[in-house]
Amino acid sequence: MSMDLPEKGRPWEELRQEMEAMRSRDLDWRHGRHGAYVWYADDGLEHVLREAYGMFLVENGLGLWAFPSIGRMEREVLAMVQGLLSGDEQTASVFTSGGTESIFVAMFAAREWARATRPDVTTAEIVAAQSAHPAVSKAAHLLGMRVRRVPVAPDHRADPVALEAAVGPETVALYASAPSYSLGLIDPVEAIGAVAERRGLWLHVDACVGGILAPFVRRLGRTVPAFDFAVPGVTSISADLHKSGYAAKPASTINFRTKEHREFARYSMDDWPSGTYSSLTFTGTRPGGAIAAAWAAMQFLGQEGYEHIAGASMRARDAIARGLETIPGVRVFGEPELWAFAFGAEDVDMHQVSGLMGKRGWMCGPTTQPRGIHVMCTPVHEGIAGEYVAAVAECLAELRAGSTGEALAARYN
Ligand SMILES: Cc1ncc(COP(=O)(O)O)c(C=O)c1O
Repeated sequence: MSMDLPEKGRPWEELRQEMEAMRSRDLDWRHGRHGAYVWYADDGLEHVLREAYGMFLVENGLGLWAFPSIGRMEREVLAMVQGLLSGDEQTASVFTSGGTESIFVAMFAAREWARATRPDVTTAEIVAAQSAHPAVSKAAHLLGMRVRRVPVAPDHRADPVALEAAVGPETVALYASAPSYSLGLIDPVEAIGAVAERRGLWLHVDACVGGILAPFVRRLGRTVPAFDFAVPGVTSISADLHKSGYAAKPASTINFRTKEHREFARYSMDDWPSGTYSSLTFTGTRPGGAIAAAWAAMQFLGQEGYEHIAGASMRARDAIARGLETIPGVRVFGEPELWAFAFGAEDVDMHQVSGLMGKRGWMCGPTTQPRGIHVMCTPVHEGIAGEYVAAVAECLAELRAGSTGEALAARYN
């Protein structure tokens, strides 16, 4: 389809109205109808993000020498993230556009590290649990690497014994999730770290979902197993600011145990007409607004604000999970530590439940292994927990009474 630009520009007010109308059928995230994609805490934080993003809308994080303000905010954001991930003076980080880029940069660094230290390797391989996010497979595909996925343990977490058994002569990296996207379970990073140390492998921890907020869940007195640089074998950690950091998109971090590890992610060249190009990201131009909004979010919330978000998200999780388990036959998969989980019932096709929930305005992402529904709680879900559980109960009752619902196709995007 091709489309002409309007002959003459149109007034903003008219456009604004048209855009408002366009969004009328979008997911109602302000009222917690979402099970993924959106991390919204409240209007106060949203206002700060808009203002901060707008202030630096035009600036470009590619040219930090021209924008020392962006450089300072980026350094401070990364230093705060390092603090949350048990980093030290050696830790070195990069601000990226999202989890996919952070994981790409980590896998690129692991490949280059292997090229430098393991010249015998021809196709560098990453061993990951079946539950690993597709971003690692995408990175491997783009980088000419290979991912070997191994089944999860009966508790649905990565199985360190199976991971080790899959290590072969081409393996350069292990991969763990904290938590996994689909079932919200934190892999046993300490045990996987021990394998990585024993076998001399790079260990990447995908803490895209949990990295920023999990430390605050721990501070609430809940048990969150070690998954960060406190675990000796961990080499790199991806932690998204635009997820549980409650910053504006696109914003994530990739954190390396040492500056030497981070250097493996550098791409430099100067054989073109404008001198040295040296970069640690996949992207070139980087939105100044996203860096500014991340800095503003972290300063505005502070530790107290994140603890508050963690508390509300966990209360939402508890209310929804406990409510669901009062419905006969419904169970939560595994024992999730954070605000994300999935649930199912054996006698009903949960994807038909997703379909019926969709008709009622709820976005319920399906899971396939096992077949169920994914839930990602945020503070706004606290207020709708009862409504959500009641809607699931109604949909299940409808299907159990014999009505045939249309199954929602299992898709992530
Ligand atoms: C565990 C995990 N890793 C990686 C990603 C990819 O992050 P992004 O969508 O920001 O690229 C996601 C996204 O949901 C995720 O849940």
